[in-house]
Amino acid sequence: MATVAEKIELLHKKLEHIKAGGGEKRIEKQHAKGKLTARERLAKLFDEGSFVEVGAFVKHRCHNFGQEKKDLPGEGVVTGYGTVDGKLVYAFAQDFTVEGGSLGEKHAAKIVHVQQMALKMGAPFVGLNDSGGARIQEAVDALSGYGAIFYNNTIASGVVPQISAIMGPSAGGAVYSPALTDFIYMVKGTSQMFITGPKVVESVTGEKISAEALGGASTHNTKTGVAQFIAENDDDCLRQIRYLLSFLPSNNMEDAPVIDTGDDPTRMDEGLNTLMPDNSNHPYNMYDIIKSIVDNGEYYDVAKDWAKNIITCFARMDGQTVGIIANQPSFMAGCLDIDASDKSSRFIRFCDCFNIPLLNLVDVPGFLPGKQQEYGGIIRHGAKMLFAYSEATVPKVTVIVRKAYGGSYLAMCSQDLGADQVFAWPSAEIAVMGPAGAANIIFAKDADKAEKTQAYVEEFATPYKAAERGFVDAVIEPKETRPYVINALAMLASKREVLPAKKHANIPL
Ligand code: HXC
Repeated sequence: MATVAEKIELLHKKLEHIKAGGGEKRIEKQHAKGKLTARERLAKLFDEGSFVEVGAFVKHRCHNFGQEKKDLPGEGVVTGYGTVDGKLVYAFAQDFTVEGGSLGEKHAAKIVHVQQMALKMGAPFVGLNDSGGARIQEAVDALSGYGAIFYNNTIASGVVPQISAIMGPSAGGAVYSPALTDFIYMVKGTSQMFITGPKVVESVTGEKISAEALGGASTHNTKTGVAQFIAENDDDCLRQIRYLLSFLPSNNMEDAPVIDTGDDPTRMDEGLNTLMPDNSNHPYNMYDIIKSIVDNGEYYDVAKDWAKNIITCFARMDGQTVGIIANQPSFMAGCLDIDASDKSSRFIRFCDCFNIPLLNLVDVPGFLPGKQQEYGGIIRHGAKMLFAYSEATVPKVTVIVRKAYGGSYLAMCSQDLGADQVFAWPSAEIAVMGPAGAANIIFAKDADKAEKTQAYVEEFATPYKAAERGFVDAVIEPKETRPYVINALAMLASKREVLPAKKHANIPL
């Protein structure tokens, strides 16, 4: 009979074996690809020494195709919890060195277990994906595993922040767990996401395309909007996830974090008074305004390289996390199109789920005209913005810095859509449509069209008509923006707004 000391030694041997994953050779292969192992990734994601593994001994029970003879340490996934900047976070990391990180019944069960713990404890959930997809030998049991993960992703949506990192392959239906989470990171050169890979694409359509071009980090961060963040390598990816978490509350019942940033809330920036070009058709860079007004000029772009005509980012104002939605006049003149509508609506809804106040910086000439947009359903997509803003009950502060025309004025969170405070710069042009377009309709037949257009510009392309009606709460000097917004956010801190009871709303999709 074994002694207690021997039993303890056996435990250590077993743990050592599990921690070795797929073995030295496969770990070397993983490193050679520029990728860290699952355990190395978790060690970097969490505060040093804080990660606690759960379910290390779990084993599969598959007897198909000789699987019963296979020892798959940790079932190809490491799961557990730890702290990030002192706050509880749950995570899984798929271990590509064990059967390609493929997902079988018990691999999925391990993930679901930590998903459910994250939900019960109200803590963020991070998934580090690196997998060949469904473990083929486990057939429908593997599919069922995916189904359970999707279900739990959906149930947790809006309760705890869910973040996915793609740090290797993610193919087939496997892409849908990340797609159901709030944010997706992809690592340059080593991550790919697609429903069907290049071989299937070629056999079905005849089209030749590389895996990187089809579903690499750049593709999903610039063309599809599937991913919101791009990382240089694994280290950078894990560092960025920690940074994102610093802006977020742990769950929907918590307020967004407030930290001491050391920046003076009353700070004004004279430079803003001269930033706006005199000719309102000239572009400028909206990031200059953002950098000037947020704490220490620091912000974190979400979907930076997709739909660049609208900016969505997290920042802090007097230490309080805010979600900023801002038109970008230096890209497509800041017009709203299908992608900009989708990008901003999803961001607005995320912020509303997690009690993050919204700051809307408006310079928008309208929705992008054209057949492509109309056929693509700009009506359906643009409606998402109206819906998302109207439905959001977090504090909403809107600053109109220049153009705010027609439907796009409303879509950028006008007072009627529930903005709690609307400020306008003297350069604001709040009008039913742009002066040239308006003149073409109402003065089309007039001989003195040019003079009348000029009169229209002076009378209507200003903030004052809207202010006279009370749609604008204050016309402010640009340099005063930071103190005005911070003051408004402080005033709105106790905002409580309850929507009518319903099962859930039906946002246009
Ligand atoms: C079982 C798998 C596997 C899988 C990889 N492996 N994917 N085992 N099921 N899905 C195993 C390999 O046999 C190999 O085992 C080890 O993992 C590493 O794989 P390699 O092929 O050697 O690695 P690499 O050359 O880097 O290629 C990685 C890969 C390739 C591109 C991911 O493995 C691949 O194409 N796998 C299949 C991908 C796929 O078609 N998945 C779809 C499954 S269906 P050894 O023992 O040699 O180390 C699906 C539907 C999900 O996912 C639906 C959800 C709703």
